[in-house]
Amino acid sequence: SYALYDTWLQRGYTLSESMKTVLSQAVLLSEDQQLEFCMKEYIRGVRRMFGAEVQQVPKEQAGVLLGTLEQAAKCLPQDGKTPGAEGFRIYENGGHIAVVGADRSGLLYGIYRLLMLLAQGKLPENADICETPAVQVRALNHWDNMSGQIERGYAGESIFFKDEDFCFEEQRVVDYARMLASVGINTLTINNVNVHQTETFLISERFLPKLARIADLFRPFGIRLLVSINFASPMRIGGLATSDPLDEGVQHWWERQTELIYRWIPDLCGFLVKADSEHEPGPYQYGRNHADGANMLARALKPYGGIVMWRCFVYDCAQDWRNQKIDRPRAAYDNFVPLDGQFADNVILQVKNGPYDFQVREPVTPLFGAMKQTHLALEVQVTQEYTGQQRDLCSLLPLWQDVLQFDTKRPGTVADMFGSQITAMAGVANIGKSECWTGHPLAQVNLYGFGRLSWNPALTPEEITDEYVKLAFGSDPEVTGKIADILQRSYPAYEDYTSPLGLCWMVNPGYHYGPNVEGYEYTRWGTYLRATCREVGIDRTAAGTGYTTQYAPENDTLFSNTDTCPEKLLLFFHRLPYSYKLHDGRTILQYIYDTRFHGEEEAEAMAAEWDTLKDKIAPSLYEAVAERFGMQLENAREWRDVVNTYFYRHTGIADEKGRKIYK
Ligand code: GCU
Repeated sequence: SYALYDTWLQRGYTLSESMKTVLSQAVLLSEDQQLEFCMKEYIRGVRRMFGAEVQQVPKEQAGVLLGTLEQAAKCLPQDGKTPGAEGFRIYENGGHIAVVGADRSGLLYGIYRLLMLLAQGKLPENADICETPAVQVRALNHWDNMSGQIERGYAGESIFFKDEDFCFEEQRVVDYARMLASVGINTLTINNVNVHQTETFLISERFLPKLARIADLFRPFGIRLLVSINFASPMRIGGLATSDPLDEGVQHWWERQTELIYRWIPDLCGFLVKADSEHEPGPYQYGRNHADGANMLARALKPYGGIVMWRCFVYDCAQDWRNQKIDRPRAAYDNFVPLDGQFADNVILQVKNGPYDFQVREPVTPLFGAMKQTHLALEVQVTQEYTGQQRDLCSLLPLWQDVLQFDTKRPGTVADMFGSQITAMAGVANIGKSECWTGHPLAQVNLYGFGRLSWNPALTPEEITDEYVKLAFGSDPEVTGKIADILQRSYPAYEDYTSPLGLCWMVNPGYHYGPNVEGYEYTRWGTYLRATCREVGIDRTAAGTGYTTQYAPENDTLFSNTDTCPEKLLLFFHRLPYSYKLHDGRTILQYIYDTRFHGEEEAEAMAAEWDTLKDKIAPSLYEAVAERFGMQLENAREWRDVVNTYFYRHTGIADEKGRKIYK
């Protein structure tokens, strides 16, 4: 028995007999074979989730009518409310429920939504829900290597690969596809953005038959594959002497290779590319720019409707720590903004949410709003690399909400740009072979939430958490209430013990778990605190590295002024003395001490709250989470003591409240 294997699509939700009767008489208003799969998913869902058998009946007797706008528009009121591509409308009238998709995917999403609303007891009477996804490309990026190991994976090995080859259980892949489709994800990359020797050949005849099989398994669920490619493929696969994007031989090679790929996978979404980044090959090697590189691939993909998702994680990873002129957070903007307007229409630049690298607290990247003539994707990390590695609990929903609600002033929030400048959202996957998929069972909320936000970025963490806990843990309000509370407290707690005032990178180098204040201080990664006995942080204003000038003028001013700079980011933007007073009168040093103690107390309180649920949840699930809280407590204490002692030793100033700080 897998604890939480069924994630947010569990069995045996309670439902009234009358609603079961409605659900069990259904009709598919279509002759289209393509839609029969939707009906199958409906039948399966009703059986598994509510224990009712569905009869396919004539239209007149049907409780539930399924179809697309083409054949089923008549079931909806003619009021002009029409879902857009991949959207749906769920409409209840006199005991009949119509689920009408704008297209096949829309119908599938509408069916899952209906079932999930019913499972939460949330389908309103006279329901009329009309939704269209906010962005076209809702992508999950696996960082799976063909060895089976997952880069930054904390939930076991890959469900796709092993020993430098494909290795998968088809049933598990299908279950995964359903999980993703149920939250609206429509694009999937199964191989790491770092494309090593073996993975380079995924787009060659050696592996295409197996990749095509994976594509076949995901296709019915409306999910298309995107492959991470190696920019040096023309040399590595093709034996060419160069991979220069302006070389005709290279261009032809990509055209021919792309033709081959599409013979195997006619609906491939396209390529995902990490180029000139952390030693991956790229156009800079040939004195070309990123538009040259991306556009070459875009031209090859164009005839098939494919796209290039080109990552902006480009920075100098061989920096000299002595050089204070270079400031890594500036890099994405400096590399890409001058190229605005030069990218082909089927290129999407994929930008990490912050200018560094998925830290616990960073400002939002200044690229949003700065590249008005380029399609952009917001990339977030669902896998918890810097946020507890699925040992510590950390619901990322509040972090993502801060990103989405950031007002760029260029104009509007990041969420406002969805559908116009931002046409895609990508998440780095957090799943593996673990029984519950995500290692820490409650880390499922991050995958669930990623899908829901890429569909509708206006959803709040509270709404998403409420949905998730009701779906995953059933209807006992004590259980769902407590788990929701724990989830809501988890990110603030994690931030508290790890990352005061926007100070980043105080982690163990390499694996990024646990405290190591100066672990990255004298390295080449561009990640410094520059703490002395008097001051800490980096001046990123115009007077310093100039990073703030990459924002709209209003935000430059906002961040540059220590009075208006959001305090959570104060030491990201400024270099300040420990005695600097925050708005509530506390010094920076005292704030550092206080938050460390508070974060650790919160970890204890969350663990204690979980303990009160011991008799209310399945023992295997209870134990799995309790065990992780044990590790989290150790980690939180380590963070508290290491960071406190570090700053105490630098300042010689004691905690005002006299708590234990090791000397
Ligand atoms: C981080 C992470 C790497 C990853 C990189 C990326 O730096 O630690 O493992 O390859 O991001 O996003 O490409």
